[in-house]
Amino acid sequence: MKVFTSVKELQAALRKHKKKSIGFVPTMGALHAGHISLMKNSIKENDVTVCSIFVNPTQFNVKSDLKKYPRTLEADSEKLKKAGVDYLFAPSIKEIYPNGTKKTVKVNLKGLDKRMEGEFRPGHFEGVVQVVHRLLKIVNPDRIYMGQKDFQQFTIIGQMIKSLRMKVELVVVKIKRAKDGLALSSRNVRLTPAKRKWAPIIYKTLKKAKRIMRSKTVQEVEAIAMEELGKPRGYKPEYFTIVDGHSLLPIEDWSDSDYIIAATAVWAGKIRLIDNIILKQD
Ligand code: PAF
Repeated sequence: MKVFTSVKELQAALRKHKKKSIGFVPTMGALHAGHISLMKNSIKENDVTVCSIFVNPTQFNVKSDLKKYPRTLEADSEKLKKAGVDYLFAPSIKEIYPNGTKKTVKVNLKGLDKRMEGEFRPGHFEGVVQVVHRLLKIVNPDRIYMGQKDFQQFTIIGQMIKSLRMKVELVVVKIKRAKDGLALSSRNVRLTPAKRKWAPIIYKTLKKAKRIMRSKTVQEVEAIAMEELGKPRGYKPEYFTIVDGHSLLPIEDWSDSDYIIAATAVWAGKIRLIDNIILKQD
C-alpha cells in the first residue's frame, strides 16, 4: 500500500491507472470492521481502491469533539494494508483547504441537512459536503463507498452527486454490527462498561419497531421506541423518527411511502450513538 499526503503525488499515481476503475472510501480514521467492510466492497468491485483519512475540521460543530477525535494513523494504516487497499491518502488541513476552510461549494440539499441529525448538529452536513466534494475532485473515482449507518450522510452525498451531476456512483454498504447488535462506530470504544452493556437496546428497539409496525400507528411506534430507549440508566434518546427514506421527511401513515426508515440518536452517558433500520422498501 502506498501512502500519500500530497494531492499532486496522489494524482500522479492515479494517472497511471487511467483505464482502470477506482473505488474510493473516505474516512476520518479510527478504523473498525465497519470501515474494513467498505474497503472490501471497493476492492471486490474496482481495480484500484483509495482510502482517505482526514479528520475534517469543518464538520465539527463542537470544537472540543474535533480535539478529542481519535487519531490512530499507524494502526489504521496496518488495517488498510491487511485489507488490501492500494492507496492511502492522509493529507494535512492545508492540502485539503489551501485557501482556508470557508465554504465554497453550493449545493441544493433540498432541506435534507436540516432534519434529524441536522437539527442537533448545525453546520455538520455543510462540512461533510464540502470535504467529500473536495475529495471527489481530487481522487475522481468511479465509485464512492459509504456506510448505511450514517443514513442521512449518504442521502445528502447522493443528492450532492445528483445536483452537481458528478460522474461517480454512490455505493451504500450495509451496517456492520457487533455480535450483540450494536452498530460499529469509532465512538463505541468511549462507552463506559455500564453504558456498553445496555447499548444493544438501540438495535433491539429498531427491530421491535419493525415487528410492531403492522399493529401500531407511526406515532405509537415512535412513542414506544422513545420510552424503551430512555429506560437504561444514563440513556437519553434525542430522537426516534420514522421518515421517508428518500426525502427524510416524517411520515404520518404507513401508506405515505414505499420506502420507510426509522432512525435514532441516543445519548449513552456522554457518548452519542446513531442507528437506523429499513422498515419498508419497494
Ligand atoms: O463518515 C465520515 O467518516 C465522514 O463524515 C466523512 C464521510 C469521511 C467526511 O469527513
